[in-house]
Amino acid sequence: MEMDVKVLKVDDLGRNHIVAEPATVEDLYRHNLIFWTTRFRDELSEEERKTILDNQENIETPYTRPATLKLHEVLAEASEKSEFSMLELGAANGTVMKRIEEKFPKPKLTYVGFECLPLLADDFKKKFPEHKIHLGDVEEFIGKEKSFFPEAPFTLFYATLVFKMIKPDLVRKALRKAAELTNQFLIYDLLEDTDTELGPDETLILHMPARPVFWFVHPWAEYLAEIGFKIVDKQVSKLTEAEAQSPLYDHQVRGAGYFHAIRE
Ligand SMILES: C[S@@+](CC[C@H](N)C(=O)[O-])C[C@H]1O[C@@H](n2cnc3c(N)ncnc32)[C@H](O)[C@@H]1O
Repeated sequence: MEMDVKVLKVDDLGRNHIVAEPATVEDLYRHNLIFWTTRFRDELSEEERKTILDNQENIETPYTRPATLKLHEVLAEASEKSEFSMLELGAANGTVMKRIEEKFPKPKLTYVGFECLPLLADDFKKKFPEHKIHLGDVEEFIGKEKSFFPEAPFTLFYATLVFKMIKPDLVRKALRKAAELTNQFLIYDLLEDTDTELGPDETLILHMPARPVFWFVHPWAEYLAEIGFKIVDKQVSKLTEAEAQSPLYDHQVRGAGYFHAIRE
């Protein structure tokens, strides 16, 4: 793949910090999309299917935990009013259900999710037949009319480790669409990098040699301001010293955290 990129630095985690122009952003996004919708396979073998589903088990880590606690907080507040509805992008096979079930065994929950890998969407359907999951990527979500979501307004729009896979113009459109459907977002992702100076047409991307996809780093406050939302709480995940030494966790997600944003 011909790439028009500037590698600014390689950090201590082996992540290449790349500054890319729009044409490269487009190419890298298409590459990511093919991975997430097909895993680069015409058909997945039984073993590959098992690995993908197994990888979705027990993925709560010290990195994701603060976002889960925040979700519990938002859910507890909504539960007081005895109703809670959420819209999720990149739902996998129901990761969030496991996070909710821990604390809220039978929430009065209306749930609508989008997942772009058929294997995961099918597994979601099997596990949670009472909830709605649509097979589709971010562009399908953006393309839906408001009437496609009779459940709206949702209490919350939720997305974890999804937007870093998606190029900036689509993330902005997705947030705009979500803002038509809810007043509140909880997003766990790479939080913005304010150290890198970017030109107006440049995007910061992290690439790690062993990984099949590229991670886009988004200027969240800017995107949110465009749609009249603001961040009311934000936390970069911090590990204890023991956790930071542990090989159990994926340290390349350093800098990830959650933000909770509401309509201004
Ligand atoms: C790292 S997984 C996270 C899954 C789940 N949210 C979790 O926290 O375990 C990335 C998710 O992003 C979704 N995703 C990746 N690219 C996407 C795109 N272009 N449009 C919509 N979803 C996308 C995938 O479907 C996948 O479920």
